[in-house]
Amino acid sequence: MSYQGDGADQGPETAGASPCSCAESEANGVDAITVTIGATVPTGFEVTAAEEVKEKIGVEATISKDRGRIYFPITTDKLFQVHLLRSVDNLFVVVEEYNHYQFKESKEETLMELQQLASKLPWTNALEVWKLNGSLKKRRGHRKGGNAARGKPDTEARDETGSEMEQQPPPADTTAASEDQMEVEACAQASDGAASGTRPLKFRVTCNRAGDKHSFSSNEAARDFGGAVQEFFQWKADMTKFDIEVLLNIHNEEMVIGIALTEESLHRRNISHFGPTTLRSTLCYGMLRLCKPQPSDIILDPMCGTGAIPLEGAIEFSSSFYIAGDNNDMAVNRTVNNVCHMQKRRAEKGRVSGLPIDTVRWDLCSLPVRTSSVDIIITDMPFGKRMGSRKKNWDLYPSCLREMARVCRPGSGKAILLTQDKKCFSKAMRSIEGLWRRLHTVWVNVGGLHAGVYLLKRTEAAFGQTPEDVYE
Ligand SMILES: C[S@@+](CC[C@H](N)C(=O)[O-])C[C@H]1O[C@@H](n2cnc3c(N)ncnc32)[C@H](O)[C@@H]1O
Repeated sequence: MSYQGDGADQGPETAGASPCSCAESEANGVDAITVTIGATVPTGFEVTAAEEVKEKIGVEATISKDRGRIYFPITTDKLFQVHLLRSVDNLFVVVEEYNHYQFKESKEETLMELQQLASKLPWTNALEVWKLNGSLKKRRGHRKGGNAARGKPDTEARDETGSEMEQQPPPADTTAASEDQMEVEACAQASDGAASGTRPLKFRVTCNRAGDKHSFSSNEAARDFGGAVQEFFQWKADMTKFDIEVLLNIHNEEMVIGIALTEESLHRRNISHFGPTTLRSTLCYGMLRLCKPQPSDIILDPMCGTGAIPLEGAIEFSSSFYIAGDNNDMAVNRTVNNVCHMQKRRAEKGRVSGLPIDTVRWDLCSLPVRTSSVDIIITDMPFGKRMGSRKKNWDLYPSCLREMARVCRPGSGKAILLTQDKKCFSKAMRSIEGLWRRLHTVWVNVGGLHAGVYLLKRTEAAFGQTPEDVYE
């Protein structure tokens, strides 16, 4: 819920917050400040995201009790790298966090307390980071007006309609921004008038609340806290064309106040031609990290849909080679278009090498691929809800595990399979247990559906020599 106040049009001063920018401070030799960054990540991949933060930023991230969020400290000189993380959806800078906030029992008292809180919060550093963030401009794809960051776990927009004809793809220009995000460039100062103080800041407060013991609604919290923020800073409230989005994230007793640093989820980076079940690139990245691609690995997505998984792999783990296949012509076309779109954008930016990916139309149950030649199979299987059917899965899943076992290298091959049809998957696994061993399962949220990412290891058994190979 967001709050839009009456909108008193006041001057640009920000009470309680220093107007100087970090870019300026650093240029003047002032030390970088340390702040806590909050990130929403695909639910279930919090540990994977924390590992990426450790690897790329060199700091330990803590995983929130509120699933789908992690927090980590940075100095402002690392803000640039934060935007290059591949496992995070939305980013925000923390103003204040309370692990055990004692909400009052009565609604009136609680809302009054939230109002009083606005003027007591340590806003200065978070606002400086927000300003600096504004100066890290994307070369292209920067959307003016209206910040879409939500600061809450962004559930997958998965719509398994079964009929790909019905899909309405979002416009390419506003959705595919990956390479742009990778090329953020530091400017001397924010171009936006609000950030540089020439016009009043427009803001909104968004409250994300989870927990059943609160006496107030998220709307009421956003409204009352927002009113107090407006009064304190003399900012102008604007629900849609805001410069700054203040986040009030409440999960049971945990309350975090933050300022959004992303305009739209960073998972919208690779795909320009959407299908009915396009996976978020952040989730694809999580799956890819689980299988640890090695240089020269041959990686197959035999049910690639729009190619979201192999495309993310070809960009991020580019020393492996990816083959994306599907039995549906429209899906294959979309993958080809997505790959071409990304290649074009890379070429425009002067990258000479193409992406290590090829696309094929095939039936997964009979792959035109040599036995024992593939290192990793990674795919998002039809859940049987809107794509395919549960009934078809009873035949599809066992054939698919068998054919994957044939092409995968015994002893070292891996499969990373996403499905929500757990019953069917478990039964199919039992029918072929001599060829696959289940190593690990990560439970994820895909568009509100509870699904499993199964990490399987190919056993040493040679294909064609176990009873399971006999396909009836
Ligand atoms: C859940 S979707 C994959 C979505 C994909 N991850 C994406 O991001 O767009 C499953 C795909 O499996 C494909 N499929 C179903 N049965 C198949 C088969 N026997 N052989 C190859 N592909 C198949 C469907 O056409 C569909 O595109």
